[in-house]
Amino acid sequence: MEIEIQAGTEAGVPAPETAQERTVGTTLLEVSDLAVEFRTDDGTVRAVDGLSYRVEAGRTLALVGESGCGKSVSSLAVMGLLPATAHVVAGQVRYRGDDLLAMPRTRHRAHCGRHVAMVFQDALAALNPVHTVGYQLTESLRARAGMSRRESRRRAVELLDLVKVPNAAQRIDEYPHQFSGGMRQRVMIASALAMDPDVLIADEPTTALDVTVQAQVMRLLAEIQAERQMGLVLITHDLGVVAGVADDVTVMYAGRAVERSAVRDLYAAPAHPYTRSLLRSVPRLGTRDDGHDDAHDGARRGRLPVVPGRPPSPGHVPSGCPFHPRCDMARDVCATDRPPLAEVAAGRSSACHFADELLGGDRG
Ligand SMILES: Nc1ncnc2c1ncn2[C@@H]1O[C@H](COP(=O)(O)OP(=O)(O)O)[C@@H](O)[C@H]1O
Ligand code: SF4
Ligand SMILES: [Mg+2]
Repeated sequence: MEIEIQAGTEAGVPAPETAQERTVGTTLLEVSDLAVEFRTDDGTVRAVDGLSYRVEAGRTLALVGESGCGKSVSSLAVMGLLPATAHVVAGQVRYRGDDLLAMPRTRHRAHCGRHVAMVFQDALAALNPVHTVGYQLTESLRARAGMSRRESRRRAVELLDLVKVPNAAQRIDEYPHQFSGGMRQRVMIASALAMDPDVLIADEPTTALDVTVQAQVMRLLAEIQAERQMGLVLITHDLGVVAGVADDVTVMYAGRAVERSAVRDLYAAPAHPYTRSLLRSVPRLGTRDDGHDDAHDGARRGRLPVVPGRPPSPGHVPSGCPFHPRCDMARDVCATDRPPLAEVAAGRSSACHFADELLGGDRG
Protein backbone atom coordinates (compact mmCIF):
# COMPACT_ATOMS: atom_id res chain seq x y z
CA MET A 1 0.00 0.00 0.00
CA GLU A 2 1.30 3.47 -0.87
CA ILE A 3 0.92 6.40 1.50
CA GLU A 4 -2.26 8.14 0.59
CA ILE A 5 -2.44 11.78 1.48
CA GLN A 6 -6.11 12.37 1.77
CA ALA A 7 -7.28 15.39 -0.10
CA GLY A 8 -10.48 16.60 -1.62
CA THR A 9 -9.93 17.65 -5.17
CA GLU A 10 -13.52 17.51 -6.32
CA ALA A 11 -15.52 20.60 -7.05
CA GLY A 12 -17.74 21.72 -4.23
CA VAL A 13 -15.41 20.72 -1.42
CA PRO A 14 -15.06 23.75 0.82
CA ALA A 15 -11.74 25.55 1.11
CA PRO A 16 -9.71 24.54 4.15
CA GLU A 17 -10.36 26.36 7.38
CA THR A 18 -7.28 28.05 8.71
CA ALA A 19 -5.96 27.31 12.18
CA GLN A 20 -7.29 30.68 13.37
CA GLU A 21 -10.82 29.61 12.65
CA ARG A 22 -10.51 26.69 15.05
CA THR A 23 -11.89 28.16 18.21
CA VAL A 24 -11.31 25.95 21.21
CA GLY A 25 -14.50 24.13 22.08
CA THR A 26 -16.09 24.37 18.61
CA THR A 27 -17.65 21.04 17.75
CA LEU A 28 -15.84 19.72 14.70
CA LEU A 29 -17.01 16.14 14.47
CA GLU A 30 -20.10 14.61 15.98
CA VAL A 31 -20.90 10.91 15.82
CA SER A 32 -24.45 10.07 16.90
CA ASP A 33 -25.94 6.61 17.46
CA LEU A 34 -23.64 5.07 14.87
CA ALA A 35 -24.28 1.41 14.07
CA VAL A 36 -22.22 -0.69 11.65
CA GLU A 37 -22.98 -4.24 10.53
CA PHE A 38 -20.90 -6.82 8.70
CA ARG A 39 -22.29 -9.48 6.42
CA THR A 40 -20.55 -12.73 7.30
CA ASP A 41 -21.06 -16.42 6.49
CA ASP A 42 -22.88 -16.74 9.82
CA GLY A 43 -25.23 -13.88 9.01
CA THR A 44 -25.21 -10.23 9.92
CA VAL A 45 -23.21 -9.08 12.93
CA ARG A 46 -23.24 -5.66 14.53
CA ALA A 47 -19.70 -4.46 15.24
CA VAL A 48 -20.68 -0.93 16.31
CA ASP A 49 -23.97 -0.52 18.13
CA GLY A 50 -25.16 3.00 18.87
CA LEU A 51 -21.85 4.82 19.39
CA SER A 52 -21.89 8.57 20.01
CA TYR A 53 -19.03 10.98 20.63
CA ARG A 54 -18.07 14.55 19.96
CA VAL A 55 -14.70 16.01 18.97
CA GLU A 56 -14.02 19.66 19.74
CA ALA A 57 -11.32 21.98 18.46
CA GLY A 58 -8.32 22.08 20.76
CA ARG A 59 -9.30 18.92 22.63
CA THR A 60 -8.25 15.30 22.61
CA LEU A 61 -10.72 12.48 22.94
CA ALA A 62 -9.41 9.02 23.77
CA LEU A 63 -11.44 6.11 22.42
CA VAL A 64 -10.46 3.19 24.61
CA GLY A 65 -11.35 -0.48 24.75
CA GLU A 66 -9.95 -3.96 24.26
CA SER A 67 -9.29 -5.36 20.83
CA GLY A 68 -12.48 -6.07 18.86
CA CYS A 69 -14.75 -3.51 20.55
CA GLY A 70 -15.30 -1.50 17.38
CA LYS A 71 -12.76 1.31 17.61
CA SER A 72 -11.31 0.89 14.11
CA VAL A 73 -14.58 -0.03 12.41
CA SER A 74 -16.34 3.04 13.81
CA SER A 75 -13.45 5.24 12.63
CA LEU A 76 -13.49 3.75 9.14
CA ALA A 77 -17.24 4.46 9.05
CA VAL A 78 -16.54 8.09 9.98
CA MET A 79 -14.02 8.32 7.13
CA GLY A 80 -16.26 6.59 4.59
CA LEU A 81 -13.67 3.83 4.25
CA LEU A 82 -15.54 0.73 5.44
CA PRO A 83 -14.82 -2.50 3.55
CA ALA A 84 -17.47 -3.66 1.09
CA THR A 85 -18.91 -6.22 3.54
CA ALA A 86 -19.71 -3.53 6.13
CA HIS A 87 -22.55 -1.02 6.19
CA VAL A 88 -23.62 1.85 8.36
CA VAL A 89 -27.15 0.87 9.37
CA ALA A 90 -27.97 3.76 11.69
CA GLY A 91 -26.68 7.07 12.96
CA GLN A 92 -25.10 10.27 11.80
CA VAL A 93 -21.59 11.58 11.38
CA ARG A 94 -21.52 15.36 11.26
CA TYR A 95 -18.50 17.42 10.32
CA ARG A 96 -19.09 21.05 11.35
CA GLY A 97 -22.79 20.30 11.14
CA ASP A 98 -22.81 18.63 7.69
CA ASP A 99 -24.09 15.07 7.73
CA LEU A 100 -21.32 13.13 5.99
CA LEU A 101 -23.34 9.91 5.75
CA ALA A 102 -26.07 11.68 3.81
CA MET A 103 -23.55 12.71 1.13
CA PRO A 104 -22.60 10.56 -1.86
CA ARG A 105 -19.65 8.39 -0.83
CA THR A 106 -17.12 10.15 -3.05
CA ARG A 107 -18.07 13.51 -1.58
CA HIS A 108 -17.98 12.07 1.95
CA ARG A 109 -14.47 10.76 1.35
CA ALA A 110 -13.31 13.97 -0.26
CA HIS A 111 -14.72 15.99 2.64
CA CYS A 112 -12.91 13.77 5.13
CA GLY A 113 -9.76 13.74 3.05
CA ARG A 114 -9.63 17.47 3.37
CA HIS A 115 -10.72 18.02 6.97
CA VAL A 116 -10.64 14.74 8.88
CA ALA A 117 -7.46 12.69 8.55
CA MET A 118 -6.62 9.29 9.94
CA VAL A 119 -3.41 7.50 10.88
CA PHE A 120 -4.43 3.91 10.24
CA GLN A 121 -3.79 1.11 12.69
CA ASP A 122 -1.41 -0.71 10.35
CA ALA A 123 0.31 2.53 9.32
CA LEU A 124 3.84 1.24 9.84
CA ALA A 125 3.30 -1.36 7.13
CA ALA A 126 2.00 1.25 4.71
CA LEU A 127 5.36 2.70 3.66
CA ASN A 128 6.59 1.20 0.41
CA PRO A 129 10.12 -0.18 1.01
CA VAL A 130 11.30 0.43 -2.57
CA HIS A 131 10.72 4.20 -2.58
CA THR A 132 12.30 6.92 -0.48
CA VAL A 133 10.20 8.54 2.20
CA GLY A 134 10.39 11.79 0.25
CA TYR A 135 9.17 10.18 -2.96
CA GLN A 136 6.15 8.78 -1.15
CA LEU A 137 5.26 12.07 0.54
CA THR A 138 5.81 14.21 -2.56
CA GLU A 139 4.04 11.85 -4.99
CA SER A 140 0.90 12.08 -2.90
CA LEU A 141 1.16 15.84 -2.46
CA ARG A 142 1.51 16.28 -6.21
CA ALA A 143 -1.27 13.89 -7.12
CA ARG A 144 -3.79 14.97 -4.52
CA ALA A 145 -2.93 18.57 -3.70
CA GLY A 146 -1.79 19.49 -7.21
CA MET A 147 1.65 20.71 -6.11
CA SER A 148 4.70 21.06 -8.35
CA ARG A 149 7.76 18.90 -7.75
CA ARG A 150 9.55 21.73 -5.99
CA GLU A 151 6.57 22.82 -3.91
CA SER A 152 5.82 19.28 -2.83
CA ARG A 153 9.42 18.71 -1.73
CA ARG A 154 9.44 21.91 0.28
CA ARG A 155 6.14 20.94 1.89
CA ALA A 156 7.36 17.40 2.62
CA VAL A 157 10.45 18.72 4.43
CA GLU A 158 8.21 21.12 6.34
CA LEU A 159 5.97 18.23 7.38
CA LEU A 160 8.93 16.09 8.49
CA ASP A 161 10.19 19.06 10.53
CA LEU A 162 6.74 19.41 12.05
CA VAL A 163 6.85 15.82 13.32
CA LYS A 164 10.44 16.39 14.51
CA VAL A 165 12.28 14.04 12.19
CA PRO A 166 15.86 15.31 12.71
CA ASN A 167 17.71 16.55 9.59
CA ALA A 168 14.53 16.35 7.55
CA ALA A 169 16.12 17.94 4.46
CA GLN A 170 18.62 15.04 4.28
CA ARG A 171 16.50 12.23 5.63
CA ILE A 172 13.78 12.85 3.08
CA ASP A 173 15.95 10.98 0.55
CA GLU A 174 16.30 7.87 2.72
CA TYR A 175 14.30 4.65 2.48
CA PRO A 176 11.81 3.47 5.13
CA HIS A 177 14.19 0.75 6.40
CA GLN A 178 16.66 3.49 7.33
CA PHE A 179 14.06 4.89 9.74
CA SER A 180 13.34 3.45 13.19
CA GLY A 181 9.76 2.37 14.02
CA GLY A 182 9.15 5.61 15.88
CA MET A 183 10.50 7.70 13.00
CA ARG A 184 8.37 5.76 10.48
CA GLN A 185 5.31 6.44 12.61
CA ARG A 186 6.26 10.15 12.56
CA VAL A 187 6.35 9.98 8.76
CA MET A 188 2.85 8.50 8.75
CA ILE A 189 1.64 11.26 11.08
CA ALA A 190 3.27 13.83 8.76
CA SER A 191 1.42 12.31 5.85
CA ALA A 192 -1.91 12.54 7.69
CA LEU A 193 -1.21 16.18 8.56
CA ALA A 194 -0.35 17.15 4.98
CA MET A 195 -3.65 18.91 4.30
CA ASP A 196 -3.80 20.61 7.73
CA PRO A 197 -6.87 18.67 8.87
CA ASP A 198 -9.32 19.93 11.48
CA VAL A 199 -9.57 16.50 13.06
CA LEU A 200 -6.95 13.76 13.27
CA ILE A 201 -7.99 10.23 14.15
CA ALA A 202 -4.91 8.27 15.29
CA ASP A 203 -5.71 4.56 15.50
CA GLU A 204 -3.36 2.83 17.98
CA PRO A 205 -0.49 5.09 16.83
CA THR A 206 2.03 3.71 19.31
CA THR A 207 1.12 0.06 19.74
CA ALA A 208 4.00 -1.31 17.69
CA LEU A 209 6.57 0.87 19.45
CA ASP A 210 8.55 0.38 22.64
CA VAL A 211 7.35 2.23 25.71
CA THR A 212 9.85 5.12 25.61
CA VAL A 213 9.13 5.76 21.93
CA GLN A 214 5.37 5.45 22.62
CA ALA A 215 5.67 8.29 25.11
CA GLN A 216 7.59 10.43 22.59
CA VAL A 217 5.03 9.89 19.84
CA MET A 218 2.17 10.62 22.25
CA ARG A 219 3.85 13.82 23.33
CA LEU A 220 4.39 14.82 19.70
CA LEU A 221 0.69 14.25 18.90
CA ALA A 222 -0.33 16.27 21.95
CA GLU A 223 1.98 19.12 20.96
CA ILE A 224 0.76 19.26 17.37
CA GLN A 225 -2.85 19.06 18.55
CA ALA A 226 -2.36 21.97 20.95
CA GLU A 227 -0.38 24.07 18.47
CA ARG A 228 -3.00 23.74 15.75
CA GLN A 229 -6.11 23.58 17.95
CA MET A 230 -6.98 20.38 16.10
CA GLY A 231 -9.50 17.93 17.40
CA LEU A 232 -7.59 14.70 18.11
CA VAL A 233 -9.18 11.27 18.48
CA LEU A 234 -6.67 8.95 20.09
CA ILE A 235 -7.60 5.31 19.74
CA THR A 236 -5.97 2.82 22.08
CA HIS A 237 -6.57 -0.40 23.99
CA ASP A 238 -4.35 0.89 26.75
CA LEU A 239 -5.67 3.40 29.29
CA GLY A 240 -2.11 3.89 30.50
CA VAL A 241 -1.07 5.83 27.40
CA VAL A 242 -3.86 8.44 27.52
CA ALA A 243 -2.99 9.91 30.92
CA GLY A 244 -1.52 13.34 30.41
CA VAL A 245 -2.52 13.40 26.73
CA ALA A 246 -6.33 13.19 26.47
CA ASP A 247 -8.94 15.58 27.84
CA ASP A 248 -11.91 13.24 27.57
CA VAL A 249 -12.29 9.48 27.40
CA THR A 250 -14.96 7.32 25.82
CA VAL A 251 -14.61 3.71 26.94
CA MET A 252 -16.06 1.17 24.50
CA TYR A 253 -17.23 -2.37 25.10
CA ALA A 254 -18.86 -4.66 22.53
CA GLY A 255 -19.47 -1.87 20.03
CA ARG A 256 -20.93 0.62 22.52
CA ALA A 257 -19.76 3.43 24.74
CA VAL A 258 -19.95 2.29 28.37
CA GLU A 259 -18.35 5.29 30.04
CA ARG A 260 -17.80 8.90 29.04
CA SER A 261 -15.77 11.07 31.40
CA ALA A 262 -13.12 13.75 31.59
CA VAL A 263 -9.81 11.94 31.87
CA ARG A 264 -9.08 13.27 35.38
CA ASP A 265 -12.47 12.18 36.71
CA LEU A 266 -12.06 8.76 35.18
CA TYR A 267 -8.63 8.24 36.73
CA ALA A 268 -9.83 9.53 40.09
CA ALA A 269 -12.88 7.24 40.16
CA PRO A 270 -14.06 5.16 37.21
CA ALA A 271 -17.84 5.17 36.72
CA HIS A 272 -18.04 1.70 35.12
CA PRO A 273 -16.63 -1.65 36.34
CA TYR A 274 -15.06 -2.26 32.92
CA THR A 275 -13.13 1.01 33.15
CA ARG A 276 -12.06 0.01 36.65
CA SER A 277 -10.74 -3.31 35.30
CA LEU A 278 -8.84 -1.54 32.53
CA LEU A 279 -7.33 0.83 35.07
CA ARG A 280 -6.25 -2.08 37.24
CA SER A 281 -4.04 -3.28 34.41
CA VAL A 282 -2.19 0.05 34.57
CA PRO A 283 0.10 -0.19 37.63
CA ARG A 284 0.18 3.47 38.65
CA LEU A 285 -2.60 5.77 37.69
CA GLY A 286 -3.13 9.37 36.93
CA THR A 287 -1.11 12.36 35.93
CA ARG A 288 0.62 14.76 38.21
CA ASP A 289 0.27 18.50 37.97
CA ASP A 290 3.84 18.84 36.77
CA GLY A 291 2.75 17.04 33.60
CA HIS A 292 4.77 13.95 34.44
CA ASP A 293 3.01 10.88 33.20
CA ASP A 294 2.88 8.27 35.93
CA ALA A 295 1.24 5.72 33.70
CA HIS A 296 4.27 5.55 31.42
CA ASP A 297 6.53 4.85 34.40
CA GLY A 298 4.10 2.13 35.41
CA ALA A 299 4.22 0.63 31.95
CA ARG A 300 8.00 0.65 32.06
CA ARG A 301 7.96 -1.38 35.27
CA GLY A 302 5.72 -4.02 33.68
CA ARG A 303 1.99 -4.47 33.44
CA LEU A 304 -0.46 -6.27 35.63
CA PRO A 305 -2.75 -8.85 34.02
CA VAL A 306 -5.41 -7.52 31.66
CA VAL A 307 -9.12 -7.80 32.40
CA PRO A 308 -9.90 -11.49 33.13
CA GLY A 309 -11.92 -13.26 30.46
CA ARG A 310 -12.38 -12.18 26.86
CA PRO A 311 -14.59 -9.58 25.23
CA PRO A 312 -17.52 -11.00 23.23
CA SER A 313 -17.42 -11.17 19.44
CA PRO A 314 -20.12 -9.12 17.71
CA GLY A 315 -22.24 -12.20 16.89
CA HIS A 316 -22.24 -13.39 20.50
CA VAL A 317 -22.93 -10.42 22.70
CA PRO A 318 -24.36 -11.59 26.06
CA SER A 319 -27.90 -10.61 27.08
CA GLY A 320 -28.48 -7.80 29.54
CA CYS A 321 -25.27 -5.91 30.28
CA PRO A 322 -22.74 -7.22 27.76
CA PHE A 323 -20.02 -7.03 30.43
CA HIS A 324 -21.87 -9.18 32.98
CA PRO A 325 -19.97 -12.48 32.47
CA ARG A 326 -16.73 -10.68 33.35
CA CYS A 327 -18.00 -8.23 35.94
CA ASP A 328 -17.16 -8.67 39.63
CA MET A 329 -20.12 -6.45 40.58
CA ALA A 330 -22.75 -8.29 38.49
CA ARG A 331 -26.12 -9.19 40.04
CA ASP A 332 -29.17 -10.97 38.66
CA VAL A 333 -30.58 -7.91 36.92
CA CYS A 334 -27.35 -7.52 34.94
CA ALA A 335 -27.97 -10.74 32.99
CA THR A 336 -31.39 -9.60 31.79
CA ASP A 337 -31.56 -5.78 31.64
CA ARG A 338 -29.26 -3.79 29.43
CA PRO A 339 -28.20 -0.57 31.21
CA PRO A 340 -28.43 2.53 29.00
CA LEU A 341 -25.59 5.04 28.89
CA ALA A 342 -26.90 7.61 31.35
CA GLU A 343 -25.54 10.66 33.13
CA VAL A 344 -24.25 9.68 36.57
CA ALA A 345 -22.48 12.90 37.57
CA ALA A 346 -21.85 16.30 35.99
CA GLY A 347 -20.27 15.63 32.59
CA ARG A 348 -20.05 11.87 33.19
CA SER A 349 -22.06 9.00 31.76
CA SER A 350 -21.97 5.30 32.51
CA ALA A 351 -23.84 2.27 31.22
CA CYS A 352 -23.97 0.39 34.52
CA HIS A 353 -26.96 -0.27 36.79
CA PHE A 354 -24.74 0.33 39.80
CA ALA A 355 -22.61 3.28 38.68
CA ASP A 356 -23.80 5.38 41.65
CA GLU A 357 -22.62 2.70 44.03
CA LEU A 358 -19.29 2.51 42.27
CA LEU A 359 -18.73 6.26 42.41
CA GLY A 360 -20.00 6.51 45.98
CA GLY A 361 -17.80 3.59 47.04
CA ASP A 362 -14.68 4.98 45.40
CA ARG A 363 -15.26 8.40 46.88
CA GLY A 364 -15.99 7.15 50.37
N1 LIG B 1 -13.87 -7.59 7.80
C1 LIG B 1 -14.62 -7.97 8.86
N2 LIG B 1 -15.57 -8.93 8.73
C2 LIG B 1 -16.35 -9.29 9.77
N3 LIG B 1 -16.24 -8.76 10.99
C3 LIG B 1 -15.30 -7.83 11.18
C4 LIG B 1 -14.44 -7.36 10.13
N4 LIG B 1 -13.61 -6.41 10.63
C5 LIG B 1 -13.95 -6.28 11.93
N5 LIG B 1 -14.96 -7.12 12.24
C6 LIG B 1 -15.59 -7.25 13.55
O1 LIG B 1 -15.81 -5.98 14.09
C7 LIG B 1 -15.41 -5.96 15.44
C8 LIG B 1 -14.74 -4.65 15.72
O2 LIG B 1 -13.50 -4.62 15.06
P1 LIG B 1 -12.49 -3.41 15.20
O3 LIG B 1 -13.23 -2.14 15.05
O4 LIG B 1 -11.38 -3.66 14.27
O5 LIG B 1 -12.02 -3.56 16.70
P2 LIG B 1 -10.93 -2.69 17.47
O6 LIG B 1 -11.66 -2.09 18.62
O7 LIG B 1 -9.90 -3.68 17.92
O8 LIG B 1 -10.38 -1.68 16.52
C9 LIG B 1 -14.48 -7.14 15.67
O9 LIG B 1 -14.85 -7.82 16.82
C10 LIG B 1 -14.67 -8.01 14.47
O10 LIG B 1 -15.33 -9.20 14.86
S1 SF4 C 1 -24.59 -3.39 34.81
FE1 SF4 C 1 -24.01 -5.06 36.16
S2 SF4 C 1 -22.71 -6.40 34.92
FE2 SF4 C 1 -22.89 -4.45 33.85
S3 SF4 C 1 -21.11 -3.34 34.50
FE3 SF4 C 1 -22.76 -2.75 35.89
S4 SF4 C 1 -22.63 -4.15 37.62
FE4 SF4 C 1 -21.38 -5.00 35.99
MG1 LIG D 1 -8.47 -1.49 15.84
